[in-house]
Amino acid sequence: MATACFVCTGPVDEFLDLGQQPLSDAFPAPGDDLSQEYFFRLAVGRCAACWMTQLVEVPPTERMFHQSYPYRTSGSAVMREHFARTAERLLARRRDPFTVEIGSNDGVFLGVAAARGLRHLGVDPSGDAGADAVARGVRVRVDFFTEEVAREVRTEHGPADLVFSANTISHDPEINSILRGVAALLAPDGEFVFEDPYLGAVLTNTAFDQIIDEHVLFFSARSVVTMLAQAGLELVDVERLPVHGGQIRFTAAHRGSRSAAPSVAALLAEEQVIGLHDTALLASFAARTERRRDDLVALLRGLRSEGARIVAYGATAKSATVANYCGLGPDLVSAVIDTTPAKQGRLTPGTHIPVEPPEAFGPGKADYALMFAWNHAEEIMAKERAFSEAGGRWVFYVPEVRVV
Ligand code: TYD
Ligand code: ZN
Repeated sequence: MATACFVCTGPVDEFLDLGQQPLSDAFPAPGDDLSQEYFFRLAVGRCAACWMTQLVEVPPTERMFHQSYPYRTSGSAVMREHFARTAERLLARRRDPFTVEIGSNDGVFLGVAAARGLRHLGVDPSGDAGADAVARGVRVRVDFFTEEVAREVRTEHGPADLVFSANTISHDPEINSILRGVAALLAPDGEFVFEDPYLGAVLTNTAFDQIIDEHVLFFSARSVVTMLAQAGLELVDVERLPVHGGQIRFTAAHRGSRSAAPSVAALLAEEQVIGLHDTALLASFAARTERRRDDLVALLRGLRSEGARIVAYGATAKSATVANYCGLGPDLVSAVIDTTPAKQGRLTPGTHIPVEPPEAFGPGKADYALMFAWNHAEEIMAKERAFSEAGGRWVFYVPEVRVV
């Protein structure tokens, strides 16, 4: 049965069911009552009216994004550099801009504005992440960004010249409230820049682990055009980004305020040519996902039966989907290594593998390391070179199962 689209209320046709899944960023402590863990059915579909690919069921947003949300943007040196460069570029376009960031996390992006004494405000529901941002000199309002909050921000601070958001607006089923808020907040010639996973990259790489509770919407140029139009906004530029396995930086503006760059029409045409929204491509993605799971499980079970010691690297939100969908527990994967203090000493969601700091990893401590943080592979493998040099091997499952 079709559910209603979060963007346009049109019918959403399901094409892949990943089964019962926990919240991907809810790491229980070893002493917690694990029978109380929250589960929901993780499945994706595509709207037949606006073509937005989306989850068909979403846990309550406040359950996912709250005071102690553990993810920190600054956990990756590559991402710190990415956002610093992005901020410098965007802020250089105007004199004395007022910038608002939706989902400011620990303030990596807005830290650049703060360091230059530029007017800015981050809006984010996580107070813990917000405290890290404040330590960077960033001004934060601990809240979800909604139309109401946006109107209050405008009344208090004036119109925004730049609204920026990375990996946040695709996480919220209240997308229309967010976009109406952006339209209300943005100055007549202001721009709204957002970066999120690209549907095309997810499908091409069979990156099925991008499907998690927090990734509610999978953007394409085509679906974003319709989504923005509902709020009186227009897509004026797109740029492909190599980060996080393939994203797009979308730039929007008030309808009619500026002409679109040729990149928009080019991407729309490309999506048409490859049939990005066609049932055939979605069905083949679903089939490839099932095969990927079987291949990975067979490889890991085989290695384990030969006595190999297997750990995983990166307690990513994405890995909750992989571990729960493939049934990877502590018997197969003895630990997950992660630098995030708020995750260490805890257990992975649903599968209860202990999360340990990088000190627990290294030459001779494991035979195989399953690369859960494949989107940060270069950075991690450079840091952990000694593991490979001592004969340790890395196991990947995106874009295919392979051992290196
Ligand atoms: P990420 O892939 O950025 O996002 P998501 O959680 O949404 O899938 O998560 C990266 C995780 O990997 C994060 O918990 C930090 C961890 N990490 C390390 O442990 N070491 C590293 O060198 C890097 C870059 C990340
Ligand atoms: Zn729709």
